[in-house]
Amino acid sequence: PKILSAEFVVSAHQIEQLPGGVLPEVAFWGRSNVGKSSLINALLHRQNLVRTSSRPGCTQAINYFLVNRVWHFVDLPGYGYAQAPLPVKEKWLRLISTYLETQKRLRAVVWLLDARRQPGPEELDWLDRLRSWRQEVVVVLTKADKIKRGQRDRRQSEIAAQLAPSGVKAQDFIWFSTLTQEGRRELWGQIMRFLS
Ligand code: GTP
Ligand code: MG
Repeated sequence: PKILSAEFVVSAHQIEQLPGGVLPEVAFWGRSNVGKSSLINALLHRQNLVRTSSRPGCTQAINYFLVNRVWHFVDLPGYGYAQAPLPVKEKWLRLISTYLETQKRLRAVVWLLDARRQPGPEELDWLDRLRSWRQEVVVVLTKADKIKRGQRDRRQSEIAAQLAPSGVKAQDFIWFSTLTQEGRRELWGQIMRFLS
C-alpha cells in the first residue's frame, strides 16, 4: 500500500499503557539487534521514525506506531539482550509474553531471524509459545544483504531443518534487507493478508 502517514503513538512499559480502540495491529518480534526497528522503518519508507542502533537493547518498551490512520505497527524489545540486568529482562519478557498471549487486536507476528545465525532452543521455544497462543507467524530472514545469492538455498534449508519441529517451512520464509529493500513487497503482501 501507499504509506500516507506514519506516526509514533505511545511507548508502553506496562500492559495498562497499551492504547485502547479497535485498530488491527501487527507486531515485530525476534532476538535483540536482529533488525526489528529497522524493518519497520523500511516497510514505512521512513528513515528515523523508529529508533535503531548497532548496539543491542535499543528498544526498551512496547512501541506503537499508527500507519495510514488504520493500523498499528508494534515494535518490541528483542530477547537475548545479555547486558540488561536480570530483573529488567524478566520484566520485559513478562510484559511481552502477556502482550503476545492476550492482545485481541494482534493479527500477526512478524518473526525476524538473522539469516547468518542458526536458530537455537530459544527460537524454538518462542515459536512454540506463539503457536500455543494461536498467533499467526510470518517468518523473515533478515540482513539478506550479508548472504551471497549462491549460499541462500543452503542457509534456508539449514534454518528450516532447525525449525522443523515447530511446523515452520522453508517455502514460507521471506528474505529481507533494509539496505536493498529486498522482500519489502512480499512482506507487505503477507501483512496485508492479515490486516484486511
Ligand atoms: P533491539 O531494539 O535491541 O531489539 O534491536 P532491533 O531488532 O530493533 O534491531 P535494530 O533495528 O535496532 O538494528 C540493529 C542493527 O542491525 C543496526 O545496526 C541496523 O543498521 C542493522 N540492520 C538492520 N537490518 C539490517 C539489514 O537488513 N541489513 C544489514 N546489513 N544491517 C541491518
Ligand atoms: Mg529495536
